[in-house]
Parts: sequence; C-alpha cells; structure tokens
Amino acid sequence: MIKSLVSWIDDRFPLTKLWNEHLAEYYAPKNFNFWYYFGSLALLVLVIQILTGIFLTMNYKPDATLAFASVEYIMRDVNFGWLIRYMHSTGASFFFIVVYLHMFRGLMYGSYKKPRELVWLFGMFLYLCLMAEAFMGYLLPWGQMSFWGAQVIISLFGAIPYVGETLSLWIRGDFVVADATLNRFFSLHVIALPIVLLGLVVAHIIALHEVGSNNPDGVEIKKNKDPVTHIPVDGIPFHPYYTVKDIAGVAGFLIIFSLVLFYMPEMGGYFLEDANFVPADPLKTPVHIAPVWYFTPFYAILRAVPDKFLGVVAMGGAVAMLFLLPWLDRSEVKSIRYKGIIFKTALTLFVISFVGLGYLGMQPSTPVSTLVAQVFSAIYFGFFLLMPLYSQWDQTKPVPERVTMP
Ligand code: HEM
Repeated sequence: MIKSLVSWIDDRFPLTKLWNEHLAEYYAPKNFNFWYYFGSLALLVLVIQILTGIFLTMNYKPDATLAFASVEYIMRDVNFGWLIRYMHSTGASFFFIVVYLHMFRGLMYGSYKKPRELVWLFGMFLYLCLMAEAFMGYLLPWGQMSFWGAQVIISLFGAIPYVGETLSLWIRGDFVVADATLNRFFSLHVIALPIVLLGLVVAHIIALHEVGSNNPDGVEIKKNKDPVTHIPVDGIPFHPYYTVKDIAGVAGFLIIFSLVLFYMPEMGGYFLEDANFVPADPLKTPVHIAPVWYFTPFYAILRAVPDKFLGVVAMGGAVAMLFLLPWLDRSEVKSIRYKGIIFKTALTLFVISFVGLGYLGMQPSTPVSTLVAQVFSAIYFGFFLLMPLYSQWDQTKPVPERVTMP
C-alpha cells in the first residue's frame, strides 16, 4: 500500500527523486568527524526556535505598556510557559554556539574555498540574518537591557555622515526606542526574518549538495569515482550512515541543552542579563550596558576605535572580512591538516583574539582594556588582510589521494 502511495505521489511530485538526491544517494565523505555535527544541529535549533516562537507569540503582547507583563504572564501563568520561554531564550544562545563552531569548522578545513564559495556566502547571509533576528528578539521582553541595548545600537547609525540621524529615526519610528520600534521589531522577528532564514537555509543546502561536502582532509571525493558505479570511492550514502551519526550529535546536544535549560537558564547573566528582569525605563539608564555575549566581539571592536563613525566602520568591516574569506585564502590546500605552521599560528591567534574581544566586550571599558582590545582588533583584521600573503608563503604538506580514516 505504501509503495503504491509513494508511486502515486511520485507521478505528481518528485518525492523519491528529492529523497535520493539529498539523502539516500547523496554521497558524503566517509571521514566526517565531530565538527560535522554542527550543521544538522543548527537545523535542529532553528526548528526549536520556530516552534517555541509560535507558542510564545500566542501569549506575548507587542505593546510597550503590556510586553514586559505578558512575558511574566508566560513565565508564571501559562502552562509550561516557563519551559517554552526558556527554550527560546536559551535556544538563541545555543544557536550562536552551534553556528560559531560550524563556522570554525569551515575555517579549519577550508570549506569556504572553491567550489564552495556560495555555500559559504549563503552561510554568511544566514549569520547576518541570525544577528538581526537575535537583536530584534531581544527588544521584545521590553526589559531595561532590551530597551537600552536597542537604543545604543540604533543610535550607532546616527554616526553615519549626512544620513545617519534620519536613518536612525527611520529605524526607530520615533525619537527614542518606543512602541513603534517594538511593533516593527516584533513583525520582523516573527515573520519577515524567519522566512528569509528558511529560504537561505534551503539555498545553503542546495549549493552544498550541488558541489558536495568537504571533509577534514579537504580531499575532493568527486574526483575519484568508481569506474562502474560512478559513485565516489570515498563516499557513503548520507542516509542511513550520517542520519544515524547525527542522532548521536542530537542526543549529546540535548543533554547539554537540557542541563542549561533546567538548571541555569540565565547562565549567570550571560544568556539573559540581570537588568532585563527590570521593566524598560526610558528615564533610567542602567549603569553598565552590554550586548548579549554573541555580539560582544564586534562590540569590543567598535569601542576599541576612538572615533564613533570609524568604530562603526570597523565593526561592519569585521563582519565583512568573513564574506571575503574565499578570495583571501590563496593556499594550495584546504584543510588545516596539510597547511603549514604560519596558517596554524594565524588561526590560533585569531581564535584567541576573537574570544578575547568577546570577553572584553562584556566588561566596562578601562584604558587598559581598550588597549588590549586594540591589539586583539589588529590581530583580527591582520588574520584576514594578510591572508593573501601568508597563505602563499606557508609551507603546505602534500594532500593524500584518498581521505584518511582515524
Ligand atoms: C541557520 C544557520 C545554518 C544552518 C541551519 C546550516 C546548515 C548546514 C548544514 C545542514 C550543512 C551540512 C552539514 C555539515 O556540513 O555540517 C552545512 C554545511 C556548511 N555550512 Fe552551514 N548552516 C548555517 C550557517 C552557516 C554559516 C553562518 C556558515 C559560514 C559563514 C556556514 C557555512 C557552511 C559551510 C562552508 C558548509 C560546508 C562544510 C563542508 O562541507 O565542510 N553555515 N550547513
């Protein structure tokens, strides 16, 4: 019966064709490791965010006089509202943890290099969209940090010469962050950006499946096909091999996610800041305003530059660098396994500076911390801007013909 139902559908919709192309006959390199969990985990978190978001929207009120109280109502009175809300707020931080690890995998194995430039670019647009989504979502509980965080970030646009003030007025829809801002952010957060995110995820995966997955060795498995079957000799069907492997990743993820969710949902003020448990008060600025942890590396770069406008340019430039990566890396090899000491050192310094900037961005700035942030910012930009040079000087090792197994 199932067979005839499937063939009835197949005559009208390419169900089996899609299943085969993307799962049963999508040949992925057989040497995927731990780092390859994070793509499927990003998909999982996206689904969690959308589902919990739908239920939050059923009880949330996008109105400056009601928003804060409606979140408290969800937390205290709605059945399992606390769980849905904490899944969503913790999920936001986990989304960034997963995506940062996913991007780092790309950096390590050169997954941005030819022929995967578009996979990387769609990924970068996803990252931008995710940042906008998180920023707008954070305004919705209408707490002190929601309000003042948005106030600070939107006023940054005011630093742009000539159009800046008009632009930030246009974004806010009022002279300060207000009800109009809350309404438009709500609309963008619950419908516009999720649609864009979903569309980009589809494009990201279509582009990946067109060229095939990279792997920890950076060997192109499509170049070595079986002469009879035309299947890559180092490839295995995604389903069932990687669907099963990904279930192990999902289990590990859910254990860690649950530990945070049930025992420390605010994560000591890193996932939900203390000031956000106080309703927004436009007349009272919190002592210390800092964005959530996933934005702090860029916030630290902004503060490291003395001039406001140049700071905004540096902050935008820091994200723009990542877009250019496929064209900055001139190395002959993809994977860090076969790159030389220069690239390995550069990547290590980059990670230290990114994490260091993240830490500094959370702290109140002092003359010493500003200086350290300036050094880290220089390393951050140096990693990218000097890459065309050092990626050519680097002594690479020969890449094997076939993928290697541990
Ligand atoms: C909502 C966010 C994202 C989702 C749901 C997502 C999903 C996925 C999935 C399912 C894969 C295939 C499995 C894997 O290789 O791990 C993948 C691969 C990839 N993603 Fe993402 N991704 C996201 C964001 C990003 C970002 C921000 C970047 C980088 C800018 C990126 C770059 C890549 C690259 C380069 C690959 C190919 C990796 C390889 O073959 O080695 N992705 N992504």
